[in-house]
Amino acid sequence: MKFFLDTANLDEVRKGASWGIVDGVTTNPTLIAREGRPIAEQVHHICEIVEGDVSAEVVGTEAESMISEGRELSKIHKHVVIKVPLTRDGIKATKALSGEGYRVNVTLCFTPAQALLAAKAGAYIISPFVGRLDDIGHNGMDLIRNIAAIYKNYGYRTQILAASLRGPVHVIDAALAGAHIGTMPFKVMDMLFNHPLTDKGLEQFLRDWAKVFQETPVAG
Ligand code: E4P
Repeated sequence: MKFFLDTANLDEVRKGASWGIVDGVTTNPTLIAREGRPIAEQVHHICEIVEGDVSAEVVGTEAESMISEGRELSKIHKHVVIKVPLTRDGIKATKALSGEGYRVNVTLCFTPAQALLAAKAGAYIISPFVGRLDDIGHNGMDLIRNIAAIYKNYGYRTQILAASLRGPVHVIDAALAGAHIGTMPFKVMDMLFNHPLTDKGLEQFLRDWAKVFQETPVAG
């Protein structure tokens, strides 16, 4: 499973990348606006830090403007994946941009039918939002399971990116459901490391070691 960071914050991207397990980044207009810098500048910085796909979202709402905006966004860096919303115009733009060889991430997906539309239009990535469905009383993870089953039936190559993940259980459930990618806020990725028995076990090992050897071993 690929791990993406869902952020436009450079400190978070740098810290996550230093762990060696970040395969890409997703941004959206809210996340970019939060950082207060022009999208081209911010996305370029992110692309220089992470060796992988970096989604940059269009803000146009008509197919023609999404297409021209998408072409411009892709010039920022070779890592850029053009992100478009799942609307009629978004699907039209996806078909056109995919046909030109661009990688497109179709976002704001909330039903399997929408995911089918994205796959048919040649999307590189589909982004179903798990947490936002949970928020309105639905089972967000069912969406991931259903898309995985449908894409398998027809051999669609569109990657399923589980988005709007709110905690470690979401990440594990998305992996079990067959998501190719999970995108998560920095704090969720950070939480994946934690277990009290890991901390307790390490403390014990170091205490036992220090009783006999006192010093830290020197490599070699
Ligand atoms: C995905 O690409 C979106 O940016 C993101 O996962 C949305 O998550 P949220 O529902 O926590 O805002």
